[in-house]
Amino acid sequence: MKQCMTVIEADITTLGVDAIVNAANSSLLGGGGVDGAIHRAAGPELLAECRTLGGCETGQAKITKGYDLPARFVIHTVGPVWHGGGQGEAEMLASCYRNSIQLAAANDCKTIAFPAISTGVYGYPAEEAAGIAVAAVAEALGDYPAIDCVTFCCFGTRSAALHREALAAL
Ligand code: APR
Repeated sequence: MKQCMTVIEADITTLGVDAIVNAANSSLLGGGGVDGAIHRAAGPELLAECRTLGGCETGQAKITKGYDLPARFVIHTVGPVWHGGGQGEAEMLASCYRNSIQLAAANDCKTIAFPAISTGVYGYPAEEAAGIAVAAVAEALGDYPAIDCVTFCCFGTRSAALHREALAAL
């Protein structure tokens, strides 16, 4: 089956995919943005499970159940904070996407949805981030043929346009 990458504009907490990815912080104890939305929608059991994980390093990913979310799993990843681009931010961001896909495949997920990691509170320039996200996912899909479809779930028209442009440029 040909693997697909799609771009949609939606609230990621509404997606009935196997796994949604959370743009978390290293504590994994919740926050604002998409992290806050996911915890609100999943309910308190999500935080309870997150407390058992011992945090997460930038670029790494950890998986929990989805609880009250329509998604079966939440894959929590920690994106880089933007410091101007000279501190390995691009590689760290790519690692978030690669490690999340690896973890999804290891848990027999066939569909996974990403938010635009690091482009909110963490200040990563949205255009560059979209290019990194699409390239990293395209490469990772080659290594994980069991994944059927990856959705870039964008919050806002500009983010969606940037991901569509990046996809078209692949
Ligand atoms: N669905 C999809 N995308 C969303 C949603 C949502 N419900 N809410 C926000 N977003 C988008 C934002 O518009 C942005 O494009 O997710 C992207 C990532 O933004 P943030 O949530 O701010 O995440 P990030 O920039 O990675 O910063 C992470 O913010 O919330 C805290 O605890 C989190 O400390 C961590 C930091």
